[in-house]
Amino acid sequence: MDFDLKKQLQRHPGLAAIYEKAAADIAAAETEAALEAARVRHLGRKSELSRMLRAIPGMSPSERPLAGKLGNQARAAVEQALAGRRQALESEALDRRLAEERVDITLPGEPFPNGRLHLITQTLWEIEDIFTGLGYRIAEGPEIETDYYNFTALNTPEGHPARSLHDTFFIEGEAEALLRTHTSPVQIRVMEKEDPPVYVIIPGRVYRRDSDATHTPMFHQVEGLAVDERITMADLKGTLEAFAKAMFGAERQIRLRPHYFPFTEPSVEVDVSCMICGGEGCRSCKQSGWLEILGAGLVDPNVFGFVNYEPDEVTGFAFGMGVERIAMLKHGVTDLRMFYDNDLRFIKQF
Ligand code: DAH
Repeated sequence: MDFDLKKQLQRHPGLAAIYEKAAADIAAAETEAALEAARVRHLGRKSELSRMLRAIPGMSPSERPLAGKLGNQARAAVEQALAGRRQALESEALDRRLAEERVDITLPGEPFPNGRLHLITQTLWEIEDIFTGLGYRIAEGPEIETDYYNFTALNTPEGHPARSLHDTFFIEGEAEALLRTHTSPVQIRVMEKEDPPVYVIIPGRVYRRDSDATHTPMFHQVEGLAVDERITMADLKGTLEAFAKAMFGAERQIRLRPHYFPFTEPSVEVDVSCMICGGEGCRSCKQSGWLEILGAGLVDPNVFGFVNYEPDEVTGFAFGMGVERIAMLKHGVTDLRMFYDNDLRFIKQF
């Protein structure tokens, strides 16, 4: 209470007592509801103060002016005390909310487990990127193939010695059906549907009855096929050199070694200069300085015969690479089976 009012009220002990009681009650109110109850109690129609103010007109002319003046001052002071307490309660409530609802935006977020692409998928995408950059389209074909597409149309007739190169999974009760042993049959499927020029790569899974440190029964290949007018061995070499440099580094060289595949003539195996020793010779390249990465050749005219392409009008090259082998060479993986053991300690490294 301000000092002035206190002094004034001393002249009216009854009012002073009313005021003191109201002020103490208001100060003790801990909630908005308690404060409202105190307001009704001390300023309401039935309050002591209101009754006293209502009695003023009946007072004697000598008492009246002082009682009126002090009564009104006391009421104003109680109202002020109410307003002050209300403000204090509101700001306490706000402080409490601010403290309770506080969010520390500097805390690290909840860790969100992040998956990643398998190294084989990453390698496949990388190979696809390189060839689509050279203008190739991506084509795909079925993993369950017929004998015709997997062998016959690839210039590998029944009884041809090359058929024994592939230890094939056949499908029980289906004389013609097998799991494709390479992506080459999709060459035939593409050429059956499309006229030249054709520039495609064919990624996919293939199956062979092999299992050791460098073979799994399922693995991935990327096939390539380019058919156009006057395609030569030089186009093949330039294309594969561009691929090897993009995949393994700009310093890489390639070399072609004569080989045999039924569906290409001439055929080659392609080596890339060793990315570990730079071609000097080391354990990885068995001191040769070279690592084999794929098979290739010029499309055999007999294959064009199966798809009604004119061998007099077009020539082409084809190649096929093992994706696991490329990934092993690039990342120094020593056992191919690790790709499929699904040991996270291995998978997470890439
Ligand atoms: N299909 C062969 C294999 O799986 C790889 C291959 C060699 C594909 C030469 C070709 C090629 O297209 O021209 O061993």
